[in-house]
Amino acid sequence: MNITWKSPSNIALIKYWGKHGEQLPNNPSLSITLSEATTTTSISLKKKRSKKPIELDFTFEGKKNPVFADKILRYLSGIQADFSFLSENRIILTSENSFPHSAGIASSASSMSALALCLMSLRATTDKKMYNYDSFLQQASNFARLGSGSAARSIYPEFSIWGKTKSLPGSSDKYAIPFPINYHNNFNDIEDSILIVNENEKPVSSRAGHALMNDHPMAKQRYINANKRLDKLLDALKTGDWGIFCQIVETEALELHALMMTSTHSFILMKPNTLEIIERIRNYRAETKIPVCFTLDAGPNVHVLYPHSEKAKVRNFIQSELLSFCVKKKVIYDHMGKGPAQVIED
Ligand code: DP6
Repeated sequence: MNITWKSPSNIALIKYWGKHGEQLPNNPSLSITLSEATTTTSISLKKKRSKKPIELDFTFEGKKNPVFADKILRYLSGIQADFSFLSENRIILTSENSFPHSAGIASSASSMSALALCLMSLRATTDKKMYNYDSFLQQASNFARLGSGSAARSIYPEFSIWGKTKSLPGSSDKYAIPFPINYHNNFNDIEDSILIVNENEKPVSSRAGHALMNDHPMAKQRYINANKRLDKLLDALKTGDWGIFCQIVETEALELHALMMTSTHSFILMKPNTLEIIERIRNYRAETKIPVCFTLDAGPNVHVLYPHSEKAKVRNFIQSELLSFCVKKKVIYDHMGKGPAQVIED
């Protein structure tokens, strides 16, 4: 049997930065699930050929990839108690991204969520226990989290929240939850155009980045800020207020970078062109009153967020004013998505 899932990346509006214990977040985060930036992963089982605790045969985009294979092997070893088939069979995994690996886009969210969904699907076929779909997704989110924190959020469509907050009953540090309230039509199908400023590998891994928060002098205040901003953003999403949305989302992105810049090991991940783009977005917003704003991951590339209704105008602006600051004029036009889907082969 071959099981395949296609799962999207996501972009955080309220950032997860800092963790403890077994991949538990130090503050709740909220993201938009994307549509076009996806990973497709297939899993099948074959007869074991060795006595290795886990025998993995991993191919990424048609080629062996020992670096990724090592990471996946470590991940599978950590969760093998929950999936008995992992140690009983040879695991054949193939994976590919819809976006170029070198594009500087975080792929751990899409890849670890796709993998967790494959594992859960396989478990559902071999276990006697039947899962209802909500519980299936919740467990998939939990296992995705153990692979990469942000991957927990990719399990759900549109907006997704990971991390316990008093404001949302049912929220958890162990898994993400789908957006529990009706958001305003103004936020239907938000556009996210990802401007590629630099394609190089990140100078600091996520894991090392999160660790910078452990003794950060601003950590305590950071977690207070994140919680407060989450509440404000939830209100803005309900009332349809793009003005507040832009203000919160940009502050979050800049605070993430401020934290990295002021860590004991300091990192400046923005490039001069990142700042050029930011300045132009703000000027354009002030001149046109069109609610377009930016957010950043732990890197130099800029996610430009805007309402679907303003797509034509903002695309024009991106092409005429921003593309010259991108490497080889690269941009990925993405938007809010419907979440992962199982790929059924004929
Ligand atoms: C800045 O999920 O990549 O993108 O749990 O160590 O895999 P690990 O970290 P990861 O961290 C993402 C950090 C971020 C913000 C976010 O996505 O919330």
